[in-house]
Amino acid sequence: MPNQIATARAHPNIAFIKYWGNRDDRLRLPANGSISMNLAGLESVTTVRFSESLSADSFILNGQPQVNEALVRVSDQLDKIRQLSDASIRAEVISQNNFPIGTGVASSASAFAALTAAAVAALNLQLSEHEISALARLGSGSASRSVPSGFVEWYMGNDHQTSFAKTIAEPDHWDLVDLVVVISTMHKEVGSTGGHSLANTSPLQSARIADTPRRLNLCRTAIQERDFDAFAHIVEQDALIMHAVMMSSNPRLIYWLPTTLAIISEVAKWRATGIAVCFTIDAGPNVHLITTSDYAEELRRKIAELNDIQSVLLARPGGPVALMETHLKE
Ligand code: DP6
Repeated sequence: MPNQIATARAHPNIAFIKYWGNRDDRLRLPANGSISMNLAGLESVTTVRFSESLSADSFILNGQPQVNEALVRVSDQLDKIRQLSDASIRAEVISQNNFPIGTGVASSASAFAALTAAAVAALNLQLSEHEISALARLGSGSASRSVPSGFVEWYMGNDHQTSFAKTIAEPDHWDLVDLVVVISTMHKEVGSTGGHSLANTSPLQSARIADTPRRLNLCRTAIQERDFDAFAHIVEQDALIMHAVMMSSNPRLIYWLPTTLAIISEVAKWRATGIAVCFTIDAGPNVHLITTSDYAEELRRKIAELNDIQSVLLARPGGPVALMETHLKE
């Protein structure tokens, strides 16, 4: 049998309405729906080659062979895709990210979106975008949102089939820019996967979940109408509500550093001068400043004047996961 091989590229995404906590950890059915934007220019490119001659799965990330947890997580995801074709054939996975680890841009979203799309294509499964998004979710929740194009909503659903993400608006709908302000690249003690299982230990999580439909509606409408003021208000409120849950869980998760708070207060001052900018923060200390193209350069200069900033990444709205030609080094 010939090699069954395919390569896919996916962008990471930044959530405007966050995913935090699962109703079902095994299926990664989220406690709430979420909304995000894919980040063009940042990408994972992954090749999956299935071959009868392989005795085990293998995984090379950024040139480094992976063992233990990373390999197990990839192999588990391949199992879910193999089940769909009744195949037991093993695979070699080679993946490259063009953005650094630990900078506040979760690589698991682009990684599992690209892995899933490549494996599905390599096994010649005919699946819809909806089905690929649901499958990617099993590897990493936020990966479901890196499958469709542009501005995306992940519907929480009530089972595997109904929990998937869909485009709200294409990338050219709104010229938003994400300036990722990197404060620290230190490894987090508790990453997202561990953090999700702590969400319910906070007495605030139930209030956060009950209020999510309101935040989703406001954010979706603000995106559709390109209403930056409404958008800024709800994006910041959503991030602060998630961090209130994190900070009040047991054990507590305090991801912020002093510089995180310093940037939050600068953003309020910049907005008061008429600059379209707001912040959001994931499970780490680094701050995403969301702005429009008009203000991106001015904000870059302002950020450069602040203390304790390591670097700034810039990303615009990105497209969907896409299959590419495979170029493997012999
Ligand atoms: C804070 O999707 O990274 O970034 O499903 O365990 O891989 P796993 O978690 P992940 O969680 C993302 C959490 C977040 C918010 C968000 O992106 O919505």
